Amino acid sequence: DEYAIGLDLGGTKILAGLVHSSGKMLGQTLLPTASQEGAEAVIDRVLAAIEGVLATAQVERRSVRGVGIASAGVIDSAAAEVIFAGNLGWRNVPIGRLIADRFGLPVRLMNDANAAAVAEWMWGAGKGTQNMIYVTVSTGVGAGIISGGQLVQGAEGGAGEFGHISIDWNGPLCGCGNRGCLELYASGTAIEKLARKQVEAGELVLAGAGGALTTGEALTAKAIGEAALAGDRACIEIVERAGFYLGVGTTSLIHLFNPEVIVFGGGVMNASSILLAEAEKSVRERCIPSMANQVKFALQQVGVEAGAVGAAGSFFSWDGQEANLP
Ligand code: BGC
Ligand code: NA
Ligand code: ZN
Repeated sequence: DEYAIGLDLGGTKILAGLVHSSGKMLGQTLLPTASQEGAEAVIDRVLAAIEGVLATAQVERRSVRGVGIASAGVIDSAAAEVIFAGNLGWRNVPIGRLIADRFGLPVRLMNDANAAAVAEWMWGAGKGTQNMIYVTVSTGVGAGIISGGQLVQGAEGGAGEFGHISIDWNGPLCGCGNRGCLELYASGTAIEKLARKQVEAGELVLAGAGGALTTGEALTAKAIGEAALAGDRACIEIVERAGFYLGVGTTSLIHLFNPEVIVFGGGVMNASSILLAEAEKSVRERCIPSMANQVKFALQQVGVEAGAVGAAGSFFSWDGQEANLP
């Protein structure tokens, strides 16, 4: 049997585990990213997570082929470097080399949504298709595009930065340099910001599943999604609004790539019944009808570990790019 370590470095959490060549993840380690503590602290947690996986793995070390890292941001896979990740506050971080130096294992680094797209394509909701797009709605918004049976990577692995397409040319400035980026309207971060603003203005008292939600730690996109599912009117409206904008952006994706299926994943999908219904509605209103009629909306099947599984899978199930480390 063959294995690889898979690790997903997201804006909010780090998830790592040992992945079998069948795409199954055996056990997982979960740590907060806490990117506000700086890149070095985050890198230490990444190394600790990998160390933890190796230490508890019930397999021989030589059956572990390497470490696959799925990271938010624009990635240079050959250099195994994170070029730009707004939600991590990272520019030019050579994370791949640091991992290779520490563990003496080959490393593959790719964008988190691209990795999750591959996992859903190989083992999940996109299985058997030639044209699918994976969209993640989490701390940011991202996409991985499979077109004509291949992952679209672009010149430096940056293709599919769906969260940074502008849906308002004159909108607020985004960390990426563009204005009115989709993820400023349709991400978990955007949902939290809007809810916080309403709570602070005294317009909103959220009665979530676990009691009243106020500002602070409790006001997460996940909690807002739960409250929406439990019928809280204000939360439903916040999630619906994000869904509407998601549909505006998704229409452009459909017009660009004419996919058979769009697979939606990410932390905010706990409220998928509301979010996706609204997204689909705005797609139907806007999209060229023939393309809107044939595209299917699906929910992630591989689940929260899709990014880590897809990156690890590059060692045995699909042809990812090996880092070219000196
Ligand atoms: C990043 C993408 C990433 C997405 C989801 C965005 O902010 O720019 O690279 O795929 O968040 O993590
Ligand atoms: Na991407
Ligand atoms: Zn942007």
